[in-house]
Amino acid sequence: MEPAVTPADKAKVIAFANQKGGVAKTTTTLNLAVAFAEEGHRVLCCDMDPQGNLTMSQGIDPDTLEKSMYDVLVHHISIREVIRKREVDIACASIDLAGAEIAMSTQIGRERSLQKAFKPIEEDYDFIFIDTPPSLGLLTINALTAAHKVIVPVQCEYLSMRGLIQLQNTLSMIRENLNPDVDIEGILPTLVDSRTLHAKEAIELLEENFGDQVFASRIRKTIRFAEAPVKGMSVLKYDPDGKAADAYRQLAKEVLGNG
Ligand SMILES: Nc1ncnc2c1ncn2[C@@H]1O[C@H](COP(=O)(O)OP(=O)(O)O)[C@@H](O)[C@H]1O
Ligand SMILES: [Mg+2]
Repeated sequence: MEPAVTPADKAKVIAFANQKGGVAKTTTTLNLAVAFAEEGHRVLCCDMDPQGNLTMSQGIDPDTLEKSMYDVLVHHISIREVIRKREVDIACASIDLAGAEIAMSTQIGRERSLQKAFKPIEEDYDFIFIDTPPSLGLLTINALTAAHKVIVPVQCEYLSMRGLIQLQNTLSMIRENLNPDVDIEGILPTLVDSRTLHAKEAIELLEENFGDQVFASRIRKTIRFAEAPVKGMSVLKYDPDGKAADAYRQLAKEVLGNG
């Protein structure tokens, strides 16, 4: 008789979401994944943004891909066919993913396409990280439906409380209708310019409104984060001894410590 598979054998799925662009969703997905991999975990990053920034940030040209997450979501091919091995495994996206929302819109179970795609590989990984596009459309809904937890990067410079409340409302709807247990793992202050009073005030405002949900880790602004993706590397590989790499290692400890 085969032993029963306990949930502990299955990948924990974390979505990185914020409908605002430029808040470091993609940067956080990749660098936290590499920090987890340094701790010995098997991590898959799934690119759900048609812009393919995550795919590109590991040196993969989306335009050369024969198959991508579009085919996984719309034609239900195996996700294994679109995974490339780099610093971590990447399930690749290209611009055709922009058409997936319309192509899926008439399919029964359209919100669960990604969740289903993960089923056959959930024992191959300890963690699956999902990078999402800057919207709350069907691609993001698929990510939130497939996820156990959500990490919300927020740029402290242009803090949008309304945006965060909108995201919470979407999560409530997902909980009611699709995925009862999904919850926020933490809110991550990114692009923090510690020299400015504004950044300090923005973090205080976050903590007033979201309390314990705000991670203790902070990701400071540094040019390293713009340089590394151009080389097709994470910051942890590009500048392994730098402060930027350490910030994501610190966050990894915090997230792994939360159990
Ligand atoms: N801590 C940081 N310091 C400086 N630049 C950053 C930092 N994090 C991300 N960036 C840069 O900001 C831009 C937006 O980040 P990105 O991760 O692509 O955001 P999103 O995925 O939310 O749109 C990118 O050019 C990225 O290199
Ligand atoms: Mg992005």
